[in-house]
Amino acid sequence: MPTFRAPRGTHDLLPRERFAILRLERIAADLATRYGYRPIETPLFEQTGVFERGIGEVTDVVEKELFRIAPRSEEKESWALRPEPTAGIVRAYIQHGMQTLPQPVKLTTIGPMFRYDRPQAGRYRQFWQFDVEAIGDAGPGIDAEIIELATRFYGDAGLPTIDLLLNSIGDASCRPGYIDALRSYYAKRVEALPPTERARLERNPLRLLDSKDEAMVAINAGAPVITDHLCADCAAHFAGVRAHLDVLGIGYRLEPRLVRGLDYYTRTAFEIYPPGVAGQQSALGGGGRYDGLVELLGGRPTPGIGFGLGLDRVLLALDAAGVSLPPEPATLAVVVGADPAGTAERLRVATQLRAAGLVARADLSVRKLGRQLEAAAKDGAHFAVIIGDELSNGRVQLRDLDAGTQRLVALGDLARELARAGEQHRHG
Ligand code: HAM
Repeated sequence: MPTFRAPRGTHDLLPRERFAILRLERIAADLATRYGYRPIETPLFEQTGVFERGIGEVTDVVEKELFRIAPRSEEKESWALRPEPTAGIVRAYIQHGMQTLPQPVKLTTIGPMFRYDRPQAGRYRQFWQFDVEAIGDAGPGIDAEIIELATRFYGDAGLPTIDLLLNSIGDASCRPGYIDALRSYYAKRVEALPPTERARLERNPLRLLDSKDEAMVAINAGAPVITDHLCADCAAHFAGVRAHLDVLGIGYRLEPRLVRGLDYYTRTAFEIYPPGVAGQQSALGGGGRYDGLVELLGGRPTPGIGFGLGLDRVLLALDAAGVSLPPEPATLAVVVGADPAGTAERLRVATQLRAAGLVARADLSVRKLGRQLEAAAKDGAHFAVIIGDELSNGRVQLRDLDAGTQRLVALGDLARELARAGEQHRHG
């Protein structure tokens, strides 16, 4: 057993996995750019109040999962690691006066989030999200744009099919009536409620609907649905979102019991799952509208909508769907040599190849030439550049490690020859 291990619920991204996430990050950044979303980076920690007020105090994320940072004695502030980026981005929107920019302000970020959750498959204490936010447009067209962007990401990442679940959870004018209906529904079944849910019933009955407790599944199945309680404005907005999605050809399933785990949502709410899989623990992504959040965090009333997609779960879903990840970029050539005193020359030639844009490695060891060639082949390199006596005439041996053939090449031609040989190799 090693003395130290990565903290429970976290996982090291070893090169293969890091490369796979990097690929997803590139796909995400490229998509977001094409849709006009600009990158933003906010701190990995914020004042705790940003999350308590923004996400809501009676949510799992704040009540149970917030990574609070123990304050140093001289500090008056209390901080927490970000469990999600939306609250911090909205804080930045207000702080930097982005209300004065042309609206909506379209922002995107990719990075690690932290939730002190009970770890299990696909649920980590540190995980990666691709996040997109459009602040300052009341929709419903922007809702459809955001949802279409999210679904396109999975396709570009290589996931052939996903399930999109859609709902409207109303706003400040119609949700209170729905919450009353929910409260009285649960109150009639209070004996059957698990103690934690009973405690939440008074403070936030909506949270019971997305409870992770098994005992709640049957109870929730008969609960009243929000879509029966939407006010005229919310119903019209929801119809608008659906109409836009229909025009874009985006398929979705209406899910009237879908509520999100964070309190800032209003109106549109959506979640994305691998096909045929249910349960929030497997959601590949989710998002929705948060028309009250800017005001809640101290700004002028401003609508907003966004999503967060869990990149770790996308990798798991790709694996489950049997989609093989593209290989890591391989080393094209390793520069080797028999002379133990000749490492500087190996390094110089490798530097020249890298300057020409090629992926090259220098073997700077003093092991025998045969062992260096073996190691190069084992590392997946296709070619070895062998530095020997010919160097005094400005030439080196270029060895094709797969074919086992080699020829003399002038140093001045090496980069071009290697690039050409690499191309031929790639195209068989
Ligand atoms: P969320 O639904 O809490 O929404 O998280 C979004 C996604 O992050 C989830 O669907 C899941 O894929 C991934 N995720 C969440 N928790 C974990 C975990 N413990 N381990 C692995 N993956 C996880 C939000 O965070 C909102 N900020 C989304 C949003 C942006 N809404 C509006 N704008």
